[in-house]
Amino acid sequence: MLKDNHLLKNLNIATKLNILLTVIAVITVFLSGGVLSLILAHNAERVVTDKALVLMETMSAVRNYTSTKVNPELAARLETDNQFLPQTVPAFSAREVFEYFREQGGYKDFFYKEATLNPTNLRDKADKFEAEIVEKFRNNKNLDQTSGFRSFSSGDIFYIARPLEVSKESCLRCHSTPDVAPKSLLTTYGKDNGFNWKLHEIVGAQMILVPATAIFESAKRLQVSVTGILMACLALAIILINFFLRFSVTTPLKKMAQLAQRISTGDLSQEFSHPYNDEMGMLAASLNRMKVSLDIAMEMLSSDTE
Ligand code: HEC
Repeated sequence: MLKDNHLLKNLNIATKLNILLTVIAVITVFLSGGVLSLILAHNAERVVTDKALVLMETMSAVRNYTSTKVNPELAARLETDNQFLPQTVPAFSAREVFEYFREQGGYKDFFYKEATLNPTNLRDKADKFEAEIVEKFRNNKNLDQTSGFRSFSSGDIFYIARPLEVSKESCLRCHSTPDVAPKSLLTTYGKDNGFNWKLHEIVGAQMILVPATAIFESAKRLQVSVTGILMACLALAIILINFFLRFSVTTPLKKMAQLAQRISTGDLSQEFSHPYNDEMGMLAASLNRMKVSLDIAMEMLSSDTE
């Protein structure tokens, strides 16, 4: 008997084909999974960034509206009223508008903060993470935006930050020194915080925080279902290819091999048959012709010996 330990040589066609198909399927799933996860992650990040950017622009517009339209109207009352009018303050209106947005639209997990190193309202004090971002803006005047992720116990939050600059002379009315600030401001906020700012100094960072976990999770779910569908399609393809192979190649081949075996032992009683005009049909037809020739040759041989 032929001794051959070479694994592939001892495998039948179907097994070899299945190994090949499985390797192709695994490579396809891995490659497409990798590409898909890159695309989906990129897409999710864009969705989050777009949301944050729209909010950021809106808040800047609210700030602008307050300093150009509201503040001039009420500025005179700051001198006379005992009660400070926070409605004149851009930072205040931005924050108020954002609070309405959070409550009415169901955007509870969105946040807006004017993180400042030396704030008037201590609620706006930058924490360590935010202070680093402010320092980055102070050290690089050309940087006009930065973004990234910040981990909280509730999940990852995407932030986008822009520098807050003392852009107008009018800001210095309330943020330069306590002696020029409206008296009512001092009674409300005291004279220790939010002063000594310089024109064009970057005092803080305007930050929008958008919850990212849900968006990234839905991207992951999409990836799992697409990969699942792909795997099911590949498995179905492998099963169909196997059926086809058995029906039109291996079964007819086995039959013909058995018949050829019989003929080799002298039994010429049966015909090769294959009902289709494909390559197997051609093989069956030529084997039949060969059998006829063999038959004639045998007859001639036996009549010669008589
Ligand atoms: C009428 C006085 C006034 C003017 C004018 C004013 N601010 Fe303020 N600003 C305040 C007060 C008061 C607060 C605190 C508001 C609060 O309680 O949220 C504040 C808050 C801020 C904050 C948030 C951090 C903090 O200090 O609490 C920033 C940033 C800021 N102002 C920048 C500016 C800039 C830039 C301008 C000019 C475009 C300006 N402000 C004009 C009074 C003023």
